[in-house]
Formats: sequence, C-alpha cells, structure tokens
Amino acid sequence: MYNTLLTSLENNILLVTINRPDKLNALNQQVMQDLDKVLNEIYENKNIKSVIITGSGNKSFVAGADIGEFVGATNEQGKLLAMNGQTIFSKIENCPKPIVAAVNGFALGGGCELAMSCHFRIATENAKFGQPEVNLGLIPGYGGTQRLVQLIGKGRALELLMTGNMVDATSALQFGLINHLVSQEELIPKAIQILTTINNKAPLAVAGCITAANAVFDEKQNGFLTEIEEFGKCFDTADMKEGTSAFLEKRKPNFCGC
Ligand code: COA
Repeated sequence: MYNTLLTSLENNILLVTINRPDKLNALNQQVMQDLDKVLNEIYENKNIKSVIITGSGNKSFVAGADIGEFVGATNEQGKLLAMNGQTIFSKIENCPKPIVAAVNGFALGGGCELAMSCHFRIATENAKFGQPEVNLGLIPGYGGTQRLVQLIGKGRALELLMTGNMVDATSALQFGLINHLVSQEELIPKAIQILTTINNKAPLAVAGCITAANAVFDEKQNGFLTEIEEFGKCFDTADMKEGTSAFLEKRKPNFCGC
C-alpha cells in the first residue's frame, strides 16, 4: 500500500515502519509522501486509536532527510522542501490520536525532527540523536530548531544545533528528549504497553490533552483559554457522562469515543 512504509494494525495500534534499510531509512520525497498518506489514514480510520512510528532494522530510526535530494536545489526549492516537511510533521504533532516515536538507532537531522514531532519518544540503548545539518552547510528545516528548543531548552539545543554533535540515549533521557530507555526487544512492547493504557481512556479527552498541550507552544493561542475550551467540550461528550457515572457506581467505564 505504501512504497516506503510497512504498516500493521493490531489492537487498534498502527505500527508504521519506515522501510529504506539500505539508506538507514533516510527521508526522501517518497517517504515524505507516504508519511503524509498514512497520516490521512490515521486521521480518518476509526479502527486506529494510536500509532507507533519506528525504523526498519536495529541500526537506524531515520538518518535524516535524503541528502542526495538537496544537491543543486535553489533557495526557493529549499524553502518548499522545508514547508512541505513542516506541514507533514505538524500533522503528526496535531494528530488527535497519540503518536509515539520508537527510536531504534540513529535519529539524525530529519529523523530527530520526526521523533520530536511525535507526542513522546521511547528509545533503545544504541539510539543517537542529533541535528548534524551544520556539517552540510545547512540548518534543520523540518521544525528542528523550534522543537529541540521546546523539548530540551535553548542552551542545550543551541549546543547540539551548532556543533552538530550526537547525544546518546542516556543523555537524551537526562535532557527529557525521550521518556524511556529500553533494549531493542523491549522497544515496541513498551510503546504498546503505554498506548494500550491510553487506548482505554476516553479518546476525545485524550485528543483534548494533545490540543491543550500543543497550545503552550502556539503564540496565536492562550493555552489556558484553550484548556477552558477543551474542558468545556468534554461536558458535551457521552464519555464524560460515562466516566463520571462509572466512578460513582464503582465500575469500569466503557468509553465510546463520543
Ligand atoms: N541521506 C542519504 N543517504 C544516507 C543518509 C542520508 N541522510 N544517511 C545515510 N545514508 C546512506 C549512506 O549514503 C549509505 O548509502 P550507500 O551504502 O549507498 O553508500 C547508507 O545510507 C549507509 O550509511 P553509512 O554512512 O555507510 O553508514 P555508517 O554506519 O558508516 O554511518 C551515519 C551512519 C548515520 C553516521 C551516517 O550515515 C551519516 O552521517 N548520515 C548522514 C546523517 C545526516 O547528516 N543527517 C542529516 C541530513 S539533513
């Protein structure tokens, strides 16, 4: 169904594997198109409640945008590439369903940016994060300068951006770039375990958490007002009535996502 992605849906969790192992899963335009397409499916398909994004093999999550495609590009073409990448990664960030990055190796350049656009990250012991664009005479273009500052603070982010250095998974954990550090075997099971917990909650409330948390970083919004709006919306849902009744009746809620 996708040229460069493998997908499998089990227990309402879609596993998306970026599959260009010979190029360490680098993001060429075909991968970007496929990601856009799979996001449409994720937004529309009611059987998908949450998503894991990972890379094929056990060496690399994504080793960046495909450098070969940058050669000979002009200022205008560069801007178009960045705009397109930012649009797709914003679609991940703003997805009403949780999307987790399961980082199984190198997450460099566009790979680090892809992981950062996900709602949170889990990584293996061999994972390495970095924005090495300065080595190429470039800066990140898919939101990396913004999300790295948001996630780990300006000082740490600028050091990584300006040196192009990589950090290992232990430092990434310390910086708050990842939530959990696990072995290769534990990576997908850990993501599934967390997403299973989330999938048992009220989906519209989960979506409200994403919307309100994203508002922190959107200067066009007042996040506290967004929270009031989202809180209010919950009162229109059957799931809020079900959740509160179930608590008072000392039983498990049965959420419908409505
Ligand atoms: N774009 C295009 N091709 C890439 C790539 C990228 N971002 N990253 C890796 N590849 C390709 C290599 O060219 C090589 O292809 P080949 O076998 O046809 O020559 C293949 O993937 C394997 O990579 P290789 O460099 O041989 O692996 P390594 O283990 O020696 O090094 C890295 C791994 C990740 C350190 C190294 O590949 C690297 O520095 N990649 C670029 C990272 C980067 O700058 N990303 C930001 C891009 S904006």
